[in-house]
Amino acid sequence: MEEKIIDESLQGTALSLKNKSGNSKKLFIESYGCQMNFSDSEIVASILADQGYNTTQRLEDADLVLVNTCSIRDKAEQTVRKRLEKYNAVKRINPGMKVGVLGCMAERLKEKFLDEEKIVDMVVGPDAYKDLPNLLKEVEAGRDAVNVVLSKEETYGDISPVRLGTNGINALVSITRGCDNMCTFCVVPFTRGRERSRDPQSILKEIQDLAERGFREITLLGQNVDSYLWYGGGLKKDFGKASEMEQATATSFANLLAMVAEAQPRLRIRFSTSNPQDMTEDVLHTVAKHDNICNYIHLPVQSGSTRILKEMNRQHTREEYLALVDRIHEIIPNCGISQDMIVGFPTETEEDHQNTLSLMEQVKYYFGYMYKYSERPGTMAARKFEDDVSEEIKKRRLTEIVAAQRKHGAYRTNQFLGKTVEVLIERESKKNENEWSGRNPQSLVVVFPKEHYKAGDFVMVKIKDCTSATLIGEAIGFSENN
Ligand code: SAH
Ligand code: F3S
Repeated sequence: MEEKIIDESLQGTALSLKNKSGNSKKLFIESYGCQMNFSDSEIVASILADQGYNTTQRLEDADLVLVNTCSIRDKAEQTVRKRLEKYNAVKRINPGMKVGVLGCMAERLKEKFLDEEKIVDMVVGPDAYKDLPNLLKEVEAGRDAVNVVLSKEETYGDISPVRLGTNGINALVSITRGCDNMCTFCVVPFTRGRERSRDPQSILKEIQDLAERGFREITLLGQNVDSYLWYGGGLKKDFGKASEMEQATATSFANLLAMVAEAQPRLRIRFSTSNPQDMTEDVLHTVAKHDNICNYIHLPVQSGSTRILKEMNRQHTREEYLALVDRIHEIIPNCGISQDMIVGFPTETEEDHQNTLSLMEQVKYYFGYMYKYSERPGTMAARKFEDDVSEEIKKRRLTEIVAAQRKHGAYRTNQFLGKTVEVLIERESKKNENEWSGRNPQSLVVVFPKEHYKAGDFVMVKIKDCTSATLIGEAIGFSENN
């Protein structure tokens, strides 16, 4: 379970890619936070490869250091500030090195960054990466450079992302940017702007290219994938103003999912994240109909209390959420469901917390990501409420939901004992170099002895043992999908 509970926004990853010949400058690019940031860093590296930059894993060697940042919780921002201190130490030895902040913190703090953090030369928001060549010119001329303009149109659909530090097996493909949901605790609508969808043709082309290069699994990515809607470009909220023709021929998420699945029968397809309020039965039927779409849905709920859900501006009640979970199980047998949960949202009482625990008991999630509420400046919740649940209570409630999740994880993994599951081998197991690690369709990690198999193979694995988050087995042969 451990790895699932860890707050991913606190883990940085420096990325590297094949050198482009002729490039002489060195870029160190590091990402924090959600998968979207990792995907964006690939776009940034692609733009900078055309500006003469190759990536390096060694901070000390870099001409340019970029950090793609996360604002989702205060701790995530503190982690980035610590990294900036580290860059500062390196900059003292290597004064020619330039430092840029990308992503959500750049958008949230804007010019303030240049005043507060003296070492920062460049501040670039999530919709301004195409302006990097100009911004770099400014920086090279010794001027500070800032572009935090949010866009109505930008989807980077025309940029073919360089695949950074990947295993050549799993790839992220972003399909929407921004979010219109305005959950009251969340900073994303402010840092990533309004929701817009990417042209399905550019998505299909990118996936075709990935398939040709040997990738085996893709994840369609967005803050809220189920609300994907392509009608020729523009913001989701302007759909009503589109022409009749555009409206009649619009592509929904279910349409897109089916198009991708049918165009790429040999790829495994996942998607994330689903907001319960936007999930339609069409999507569920599309998942059920296509064998290559994994039976797995990440379905954040945040709380099991209808009163808190309302204060969070989540557009559903506890009962509606549970009804959706029932429909998922009816339409997609053996569907894995995972959660995001927040404890200690302002005004959360013991009774609300018990409601969260009882909802978890009912759903028995496969795994989940659980957080203490962190007040974000400027959000509706910060304006309306005091952060009135004490740290001590938040901690205790978090411990309780983590323990519940561990129990439910174990319940789920135990159901697989004696069964045979299809696994896509992704990497060597962290704990044992003689074992492979991959995932089954429900996104549970499976480890097994390597034998003659290799990373990227689809293998049938008989499950012999398990922990609360991992299945342990033995390969019995290749899958027919291999
Ligand atoms: N729709 C997004 C959600 C992004 S934030 C997605 O693609 O996953 C990821 C999770 O962080 C949220 O689901 C929520 O559980 C948590 N989160 C967001 N804002 C938070 C805050 N202010 N405090 C604590 N957790 C938060
Ligand atoms: Fe944030 Fe809610 Fe959107 S959690 S990203 S505002 S769906």
